[in-house]
Parts: sequence; C-alpha cells; structure tokens
Amino acid sequence: MKILVTGGLGFIGSHTVVELQNKGYDVIIVDDLSNATISVLDGIEKITGKRPEFVQLDIRDLAGVSKLFSNYNDILGVIHFAASKAVGESVERPLLYYDNNLVPLINLLKELDKKDNSHFIFSSSCTVYGQADVMPITEDAPVQQAMSPYGNTKQIGEEIITDVTRVSNISAILLRYFNPIGAHESTLIGELPNGVPQNLIPFITQTAIGLRKELSVFGDDYDTVDGTCIRDYIHVVDLAKAHVAALDRLIKGDNIEKVETFNIGTGKGSSVLEIINAFEKVSGVKLPYKVVARREGDITQAYAATDKVNEILGWKAELSLETALNSAWKWEQKVRK
Ligand code: NAD
Ligand code: WQD
Repeated sequence: MKILVTGGLGFIGSHTVVELQNKGYDVIIVDDLSNATISVLDGIEKITGKRPEFVQLDIRDLAGVSKLFSNYNDILGVIHFAASKAVGESVERPLLYYDNNLVPLINLLKELDKKDNSHFIFSSSCTVYGQADVMPITEDAPVQQAMSPYGNTKQIGEEIITDVTRVSNISAILLRYFNPIGAHESTLIGELPNGVPQNLIPFITQTAIGLRKELSVFGDDYDTVDGTCIRDYIHVVDLAKAHVAALDRLIKGDNIEKVETFNIGTGKGSSVLEIINAFEKVSGVKLPYKVVARREGDITQAYAATDKVNEILGWKAELSLETALNSAWKWEQKVRK
C-alpha cells in the first residue's frame, strides 16, 4: 500500500516514515529540502532496512504534483507534513506562510479529488485552541482567533479540508499535535533546527552542549505551580505512531465522519522549570538559565485531553518525558560530533 508522505525528510515526517515502513507500508517521500537534508534517507534506511522512494519537489508546483500522482497512480493515502513552521517568522513573512502552508494543501486535495477513494492526514496543531479556558483541552474546545499567520494557516487548512471532504471521496483525519520533542532511540534521525532554536528542548540541548550561553526562561509570573508556562511535551516516536493509527483507521474505513479530529499529546502538562529539572536529571548536566520577561504571544498553559484519541483511535502515548529528553540529549551529542 503506497503512502505519499510530504515533508517526509523533516523532523516529524522522518519518524513517521520509519513507523510506516515498520508496519509494512510502502512510502514515497516528497520534500523540497527547504528544511531537511538528503542524508535523512540514510538514517531511515539504516533503521528500517528499507530506503523509501524519494522525489525532490516543491509541492507548491501544481504541475509537479500532478506528474507525481500520474507517475504513482496507486497512492492510497497522503500524510501531509510539508509546511513552514516558525511562528515568529510567519509574523515577519506572512505571504511566505500563506503560500507555503496553503498552496501545497490545495494542490494535494485537487489530485486526491480525482480518485475514487482516498485518505488524507493533516498536521495540525494545538495552536488552534489558543489559550483554552478549560484544561485538559478537548477536541471540541473552541478554535480561537489565531495569534500568528502560522497559526492561521493551520485553522484555514482545517477548514479547507472540512469543506472539500464534504463534497469529495476524500476522508481525512486532522491531528492536532501538542509539543513534539525527542529523537529516534537509534540517534539516526532527529530534529535539526535552523539557526537559533525557538523551541524549548532544542534550546536546552544546545545550551547543555555549550553552543548557547544560557537558556532564557520566558517569565515566571504566570498563574501556574511555579510561575512558568505549562505544555504537553510528546515524544516524536509516539506522535509518529499516531499517524499510523490514523492511516489504518481511514484505510479500514472505520472512520465515522469524513473528517475526524484528534489531539495528539500525553495528557500531562509540565512547566518550564520541571523540564529543566528533568533534563538535568537525565543528562547529568547543570543547565545555566535565567528568568527573563514573558515572550509575546505565549499562552499560560496547554495540555491535551486524550480520552477521544485513546478510545477511538486506540492510540496512547507510551514513552515518558525522561525518555524523550534523554533521546533529545543523545541526539544533540551525536549531531555535534
Ligand atoms: P520540518 O520543517 O522538520 O519538516 C517539514 C518538511 O517539509 C521539511 O523537510 C521541509 O523541507 C519540507 N517542506 C517544506 N515546504 C515544502 C514544500 N513547499 N514542498 C516540499 N517540501 C516542503 O517540520 P516538522 O516539525 O516535522 O513539522 C511537520 C508538520 O507538523 C508541519 O506541518 C508543522 O506545521 C506541523 N507541526 C509541527 C509542530 C512542531 O512543534 N514541530 C507542532 C505542531 C504542528
Ligand atoms: C515551550 C515553553 C516558552 C524557549 C510552539 C508553537 C506552536 C507549536 C509548538 C507548531 C513556552 C518556553 C521556550 C526558550 C522558554 N508549533 N521557552 N525559553 O510556544 O508551546 O509552541 O511550538 O504548531 O504553534 O508556537 O513551544 O518550545 O517554543 O515553548 O522559556 O528559549 O518553553 O515560553 O512556555 P510553544 P516552545
């Protein structure tokens, strides 16, 4: 069963390709290498014993996408990761984000719409909830006005998919990820942030290895246990497995609605200080940090209600926070070597 994985050389995509191949799926990766390197293919091959097919293409190019679908006329499903993901950059360069996060989506749906039966999985984000009023956040919590063009592309993406599936043969699952972290235990694939990391875990590991002087903790005056923000950090391998579960559901036709939405998180919130402590324990490194002002746009807390995804998708996060932090640390050490 051939599955097209867009952005399959990226952080979450590469881990998902590993899990798909482990389950016997045939994978075609399409990636333009704008935020990935070709050597990721070697890592995937070493882990799974199989090199996925690879097509280098910017999927904003409709003619290129059409050609891809005619070259591989037996694509059964698409997992769509390819997008730009830096929230701050999206504020500076909104057109880039609306272009790169929406045109590929429309191109893929145009091609899938020509098929009798097709399956689509979309990388959405907990960012669509903004600061939810009630914790943990359930899937029916209201979507709030996006705080960045990036966040808006996820909301609009969800709406486009909902409108299109209603009148087509495409069935879809929207996965709203909480905070993906970590790396494959083999340390053959992991996260490769561009420039200074904006996300907490890569900033921590780069500080621990000596690449950054100290971590800035953005605010300790929030209304939480220790004043720092709370997030739901999920191991990328668990997240990858959620995609396989979602795909299996669509392929078996077990889905009840044309579009289904699931939170992908652990259900447990951790504060920034708790993350620092846990990291210090697993790595044995004392992390230099100082508390600075709040970062604009940060919400106080977000963690997932996981009952729906546990019951309906039969998926549950299994790996601990410590395992995830340890894998991120091992990966950082490997990359710097
Ligand atoms: P990533 O940047 O590591 O992976 C994205 C991949 O897509 C890269 O390999 C990049 O080269 C490729 N790509 C980008 N634009 C492309 C285009 N036009 N044509 C072909 N390939 C293109 O990002 P990631 O962290 O793996 O995120 C994957 C998806 O998950 C994204 O849609 C992102 O918005 C979403 N998401 C990520 C997070 C997170 O914290 N990492 C959280 C929630 C949602
Ligand atoms: C986590 C916590 C920071 C860096 C972002 C996107 C979101 C989603 C996931 C894609 C926060 C604190 C961070 C640092 C810090 N991506 N922090 N010092 O903000 O939850 O979400 O990534 O969809 O859309 O906005 O993740 O890793 O940036 O921050 O104190 O140097 O760590 O304030 O509380 P966030 P993050």
